[in-house]
Amino acid sequence: MNVLGIESSCDETAAAIVTEKKQVLSNVIYSQIEEHKSFGGVVPEIAARTHLEKIDVVVEKALHDAGVNLSEIDAVAGTCGPGLIGSVIVGATFAKTISMSINIPFIAINHIEAHAISVRLTEDVEFPYLLLLASGGHSQLCIVHAIDNFEILGKTIDDSVGESFDKIAKLLGLGYPGGPIVEKVARCGNAEKFSLPRPLCTKGSCDFSFAGLKTAVRVAAEKCVTEQDKVDLVASFQKTVTDVMVFKVKQAIDICDKKITAVAMAGGVAANKSIRAALNNTCNSYGLPFFSPPLQICTDNGAMIAWLGLEKFHKKQFTDLQFAPCPRWSLQQHGSFIKH
Ligand code: KG4
Ligand code: ZN
Repeated sequence: MNVLGIESSCDETAAAIVTEKKQVLSNVIYSQIEEHKSFGGVVPEIAARTHLEKIDVVVEKALHDAGVNLSEIDAVAGTCGPGLIGSVIVGATFAKTISMSINIPFIAINHIEAHAISVRLTEDVEFPYLLLLASGGHSQLCIVHAIDNFEILGKTIDDSVGESFDKIAKLLGLGYPGGPIVEKVARCGNAEKFSLPRPLCTKGSCDFSFAGLKTAVRVAAEKCVTEQDKVDLVASFQKTVTDVMVFKVKQAIDICDKKITAVAMAGGVAANKSIRAALNNTCNSYGLPFFSPPLQICTDNGAMIAWLGLEKFHKKQFTDLQFAPCPRWSLQQHGSFIKH
């Protein structure tokens, strides 16, 4: 069985074909970095227009790379939110149109849920597992009981983790997108040089806050004299975020009290090797396996959309074509759109 997954919620136009045997037959991603670079961040209007220009090319390439015809696709899954509404509409409408024209089921996908389940595409992770979701739009810790059953333990009260990487990169003039650049620069710095605040690190709290850390980096940056000072500041920032992640995951593991099979991290920030390594060590010290998808499945992609589509297909959770894309769509808001 082949499912086509289409993703266009932010600045990646992506399509992939995945089988029920977890084979990723194709995974095509058009990254809009060049379009947004000179603005230092994603410009919603440009993102929507670029999705419109690229979507057919990307889907055609996904079919070509997979070596399948459209007639061999059994269902089409499309991100319907949350995200930039103009961008979401492009992919969702394209997916619905394919569904209608070749008469196959359409499955509306919540982008955050796709990140949350993505680890099951690349690893055999059983429910319930603890998930740290860290992307550009969201930071949360939850227990994933099933594909449509999430118990939220904590979330950010201001900026998301990814956003903090992006904002730090911008304020230090490192460029866009921030995450990968910060990670690269941090490798050359002394992470112990600056002592930065670790917000909300109080016992029992699984909530995050990154706005204060960003301000502390801005204040410290004003005192940097040499280029190396700046590099050390970047390294210290990444170390601080890593420490916060480790602290929060420990709190969450304690709250779960052995009721989880594993710990997983997903979303764009999960591409960060230092954070992955630190969390891996932490989980191992608790005797829990730690999973995180390969880098190209951490950042936005169509394969995770197709995979959640497959999981929903098995539960017969198809979506009515009337379903409207939603710019805001939390993990708890499931069920209302399902066509049984
Ligand atoms: O999941 P994602 O691709 O898009 C959203 O759903 O938001 O996440 C994008 C975020 C951006 O904020 C980006 O800076 C961050 O993930 N990111 C990273 C790394 N790669 C991407 N953050 C830290 N280290 C990285 N290597
Ligand atoms: Zn994402």
